[in-house]
Amino acid sequence: MKGVILAGGTGSRLHPLTRITNKHLLPVYDRPMISYAIEALVMAGVTEMMLVTGGTHAGEFLRLLGNGQEFGIDRLFYAYQDKPGGIAEALSLAEKFVGGDRVVVLLGDNIFGRSIRHCADAFRQQKRGARVVLSKESDHEHLRHLGVAHLNGSRRIQRIVEKPDHPPSDYAVTGVYFYDDTVWKVLPELKPSGRGELEITDVNNWYLERGLMEYDILEGFWGDAGESMAAYYAAQDFVREHGANRE
Ligand code: G1P
Repeated sequence: MKGVILAGGTGSRLHPLTRITNKHLLPVYDRPMISYAIEALVMAGVTEMMLVTGGTHAGEFLRLLGNGQEFGIDRLFYAYQDKPGGIAEALSLAEKFVGGDRVVVLLGDNIFGRSIRHCADAFRQQKRGARVVLSKESDHEHLRHLGVAHLNGSRRIQRIVEKPDHPPSDYAVTGVYFYDDTVWKVLPELKPSGRGELEITDVNNWYLERGLMEYDILEGFWGDAGESMAAYYAAQDFVREHGANRE
């Protein structure tokens, strides 16, 4: 399974900090944010990765990560997104790199308290389709800024709703997604959303509609450190006290 870390975007929710650097290079406790995502994938047994970034600070990733070996990566590739067009558009840049393999996609601003290795192992056992990872979040104001799973009685996900006014459950969809090679057929079918982006939630709903989506529910802390200043600081406080990606 190959890994793709998405680290583009304008980081507008963390302005003015992100006027002078890429969001994913901001410190989270004692390391740049992106290093936690890399560690999460390496600990999940993924050693071939592509980092997709964009904007004016892309060169800094090379300075930080080099060829990736210091971080436990065997082969590290880079792709450059010309203009921010959404997560699904950024993913399409990795198609040739992934080839016919499976892929785990991780948003570079997501911080996990515990290792996501068991989710990767579950996907390795899964015959086909996709897999998402949910995290329980009871603060509805927070859920309104995320993708939220609409679960039905039999504990299947019925649909994922992006940034819902009325969250259909307490389960946020985190920024780790597993796909088989059908994903490359889905991406060209997507239409831009109201915010003008190709949404990863539309990709996930494509799999859901065909009964090809499984999921895990995370234990422990999960934070999207790029979502707001409050979320950034919540991630800092957690990591400082407890660390991240713990087995
Ligand atoms: C994205 C996804 C959303 C998900 C979130 C997790 O949101 O669209 O479904 O819950 O990442 O980090 P964005 O950060 O693009 O607003």
